[in-house]
Amino acid sequence: ILKVTEFVSANDLASLMSVSVNDVIATCMSLGMFVSINQRLDAEAITVIADEFDYEVQFVSAEEEIESSLVEEPDDEADLQPRAPIVTIMGHVDHGKTSLLDYIRRTRVAAGEAGGITQHIGAYSVKTDDDRMITFLDTPGHEAFTAMRARGAKVTDVVIIVIAADDSVMPQTREAINHAQVAGVPIVFAFSKVDKPGANTDKIREELSQMNMLVEEWGGKYQTQEISSKSGLGISELLEKVLLEAELLELKANPNKRATGNVIEAELDKGRGYVTTMLVQNGTLRQGDIILVGAHFGRIRAMTGDTGQRLKEAGPSTPVQILGLPGAPQAGDKFNVMETEREAREIANKREQLLREQNMRTRKHITLEEIGRRK
Ligand code: GTP
Ligand code: MG
Repeated sequence: ILKVTEFVSANDLASLMSVSVNDVIATCMSLGMFVSINQRLDAEAITVIADEFDYEVQFVSAEEEIESSLVEEPDDEADLQPRAPIVTIMGHVDHGKTSLLDYIRRTRVAAGEAGGITQHIGAYSVKTDDDRMITFLDTPGHEAFTAMRARGAKVTDVVIIVIAADDSVMPQTREAINHAQVAGVPIVFAFSKVDKPGANTDKIREELSQMNMLVEEWGGKYQTQEISSKSGLGISELLEKVLLEAELLELKANPNKRATGNVIEAELDKGRGYVTTMLVQNGTLRQGDIILVGAHFGRIRAMTGDTGQRLKEAGPSTPVQILGLPGAPQAGDKFNVMETEREAREIANKREQLLREQNMRTRKHITLEEIGRRK
């Protein structure tokens, strides 16, 4: 059986079958087809020619072909080590997500942001009272960032959904619950702002029960914690509950292999070039590694941790910022570390070509539609 992407050339086909291209061309001629070395063959021709060489053809899409070469082999149980849980804080606008994370980090992220609104996903490692690590992703609260948040949920092990106790379950609270449920990620509810007059956590419990989400203290399965990010009330307890959920998941990774993970965000810094924030999910990422993300690749020139400290290497569940990519990948893109630059370039080029072909197809589509509209 011969795996062939659509549209290979006579030359490609020959090397896939380990025969000389002259034999392929000669066979074509005997079948009444006149092809040149680099001419792309259609599916029917490929099938007929391969058959002459006793191969059965299986067509795979070009995309499948590229991605299948990057699929990781499953890790040996013996190589796995516990890793920190990756936790996303979600919830409605202004319900206190950043303030909570801020308190946890004991820094002032919310105060430093324009208008106190989170504009991007940040990633931070924190230590709990008993020295266990949790990696947090801070996601934006506005509807416009729904897509990004959906991607945030994909890399997440546990979700904290913040609901302001002086408000109600809001549209984006429901959306966050929905994202977490679709992703199959356990939820811990944080009822925030309990220090405020008018805070009524039982009202929130009631609203949740109306959505068929019964909280633990009412006999259900969802852990909740009342918190105040002003006084810090309940926050250690919240982290304990998150770790409890995480323990059930027995999260493990193999630090002794090339890293894989996801892009959290990327931006162009005037002085430093493209800065990419990524989360290492498996393996260990090292300075000097050749990294491939979407159609971009490059060697990691420098790597820093979440507080700006220089890093030579970063293991599973570590958020890092790297320099060395020649462009900005998309949030949520997967990254791979490649053995050689040649390999990275090859895949990056193929992806680039695929993207171009896809763009051309959509553009053609739009043009036809526009013509239709003008009539
Ligand atoms: P977006 O990023 O815009 O979605 O908002 P957010 O969910 O990150 O909310 P943020 O932490 O910025 O908090 C919104 C407002 O609520 C700020 O003025 C906070 O000071 C206030 N706030 C947050 N948590 C608490 C709390 O526990 N108690 C009190 N009293 N105020 C809080
Ligand atoms: Mg925020």
